[in-house]
Amino acid sequence: MSNPTPRPGIMDIAPYVGGSHDLPGIDEPIVLSANENPLGPSPRAREAFAAEAERLHRYPDGGAEALRAAIGKRFGLDPARIVCGAGSDELISLLIGAYAGPGDEILYSQYGFLMYAISARAAGATPVTAPERNLTADVDALLAAVTERTRIVFLANPNNPTGSYLPRSELERLRDNLRDDVLLAIDAAYAEYVGIEDYSAGAELAAQRDNVIMLRTFSKIFGLASQRLGWAFGPPGVVDVLNRVRGPFNTTASAQAAGIAAVADVEHAEASRVHNDRWLAWLTQQVGGMGLEVPPSVGNFVLVRFAGADQAEAATAHLMSRGVITRRMAGYGLPESIRVTVGLEHENRALVDALGEFMGMR
Ligand SMILES: Cc1ncc(COP(=O)(O)O)c(C=O)c1O
Repeated sequence: MSNPTPRPGIMDIAPYVGGSHDLPGIDEPIVLSANENPLGPSPRAREAFAAEAERLHRYPDGGAEALRAAIGKRFGLDPARIVCGAGSDELISLLIGAYAGPGDEILYSQYGFLMYAISARAAGATPVTAPERNLTADVDALLAAVTERTRIVFLANPNNPTGSYLPRSELERLRDNLRDDVLLAIDAAYAEYVGIEDYSAGAELAAQRDNVIMLRTFSKIFGLASQRLGWAFGPPGVVDVLNRVRGPFNTTASAQAAGIAAVADVEHAEASRVHNDRWLAWLTQQVGGMGLEVPPSVGNFVLVRFAGADQAEAATAHLMSRGVITRRMAGYGLPESIRVTVGLEHENRALVDALGEFMGMR
């Protein structure tokens, strides 16, 4: 008798390891490992979440109608073209499962977000990467890697973990040169942090083309990572597909309530962006001043590059000994790098002090 056997590809998946939040022996470690908003969510989102405690026995609104309306209002988008999911992770997985299977390819750039490969393998499809240039997605390399089996191209913009981005013109050039039947998924999880003129989260493209979908999340600037809430905006055909394959109640009532309040609190998001702008620049300058390479980032995190994997490992251990948790990037093919999320002022200062100590400068 043989044991139950998963489909080919499943056992090739290296399970996703999330950013750690615990340090044995340290009560309140400084967590700079998961690109969360250090300011937390809007106070109104906390209140809306708490109010849901009275209704735990009721199913949520399966269509997330009020939430989609709130998102549409805030971003100027048609709610009928929005689908909500249990984090953008779920939407990535649903898209791949709906459009790709065994023999099909999912294309993304070399240091692209890890979930594209995991979800591709889970669907029996083949993840394919295109080389980057200067830790930035390269449109020509992506186009050169397209084959007749390519079904979806994922572009994280800005990308995690590199912090780099492609301007609007490059997104358009990518779309214009892809076959019409290849879906372009623009994953703009960090969009709200980017204040650069030539940046676009991809909403215009997703509004105009039948083969572009934009993915967004409440886990980053909106500070609701625990609630697992993301959304997609795209053409009616793709939205219809997502609505067919998603679970009927794939977002919880508390997530919907918190999301509605969060998206309405423009001041809190703006305060979060201003905080991030200030401390992102400070971290880049301080850590760069230690002789470490810190590629320019437009997200809420920086990549810190050491001389080699050994130094990165030793630095991570030293930071942990000082109560600071960062993230090793070996899983992304960047073993010499760690990723540091922008934290509160005292957290950023503790990181810089401990890293400076490690580098023998303090
Ligand atoms: C580029 C990118 N896409 C998607 C996600 C997933 O976010 P969510 O919490 O909405 O699943 C992340 C989270 O780190 C991310 O960095």
